[in-house]
Amino acid sequence: MPEITYVVPDGSVHVVDVPAGQSVMDGSVRNNLPGIVAECGGSCSCATCHVYLEGEFADLFDEATDEERELLEYAEGAQPTSRLSCQLIVTGSCDGVRVTVAPEA
Ligand code: FES
Repeated sequence: MPEITYVVPDGSVHVVDVPAGQSVMDGSVRNNLPGIVAECGGSCSCATCHVYLEGEFADLFDEATDEERELLEYAEGAQPTSRLSCQLIVTGSCDGVRVTVAPEA
């Protein structure tokens, strides 16, 4: 099962197994990790699942939809590497991916 690393705002690092087909947000919520609130439950409308996804890992996921981009425009602390983790669907190639949870997620 792909292992995903989450760096959360308090600086702690959590490594969890996330089954392919689930989102990076699911992996955090199901393991009760701090940081990702996921208020809207993954329907791309709250931006409380905001993470930063560095270069080489970004290519492993589908590109952001217009809807996601628009939400991120208004998200606190948005950067070019920003993504909404509920839109990042884990596949078998995602083993070793590392995300940093945005401070205001
Ligand atoms: S959980 Fe709400 S936008 Fe991702």
